[in-house]
Amino acid sequence: MKIKIAPSILSADFSKLGLELKKIKQAGADLVHVDVMDGHFVPNITIGPVVVKYMRQATTLVLDVHLMIEHPAKYVQAFVDAGSDMVTVHIETVSIKELRVIAKSLKKNKVKLGISLNPATALDKIKPVLGLVDFVLIMSVNPGFGGQAFIPQVVNKIKQLRAIFAKDIAVDGGINQQNAQLVKDAGANILVAGSYIFGAKDVKQAINSLRQERHR
Ligand code: DX5
Ligand code: ZN
Repeated sequence: MKIKIAPSILSADFSKLGLELKKIKQAGADLVHVDVMDGHFVPNITIGPVVVKYMRQATTLVLDVHLMIEHPAKYVQAFVDAGSDMVTVHIETVSIKELRVIAKSLKKNKVKLGISLNPATALDKIKPVLGLVDFVLIMSVNPGFGGQAFIPQVVNKIKQLRAIFAKDIAVDGGINQQNAQLVKDAGANILVAGSYIFGAKDVKQAINSLRQERHR
């Protein structure tokens, strides 16, 4: 599977979002990951559909919107209208019934649906909905903040999921050059990284280091 790198805009300088988007595009990013937090599902507040709308105008990169919010069904349409290409909701925040409704409306709008699960949430919880989604986003930190340490126990979760799921598997949180090969070997093919990429002196080199095959 092709490895895709998704810089998380949460670690960018928000006073120059347009330039930051240009920078990651030129450096070879495949997607831009947008972390939406509501102060309820996670203990932090970030951005909403307005910012996504202006990001859409500023870049042709695929907009991968990660909703860390309660009641996502209420807000999905606003993020679709803002120009999202992919929308991820958390299994901890939706019923299967709600997810079916979300899946239907995203499909109509040709927007991809992802399901995410926290490190403490068992893989079993998402098994009943795998048929509804286009990809899975495995959290490798507790959602809420950039710059946290990767939780190594999730590697097994990625392996177990890859054994039963043929579509895209993304991993999000604490990804860097040290653990990138580990999660790719486990079966992840989309790597989200915020602080590692935006904190690097050479963003292109940082993106390449996550993508490249590392022989040990
Ligand atoms: C965590 C977010 C992540 C985060 C990634 O709540 O969902 O996308 O911004 O940032 P790093 O790579 O710094 O952990
Ligand atoms: Zn995220």
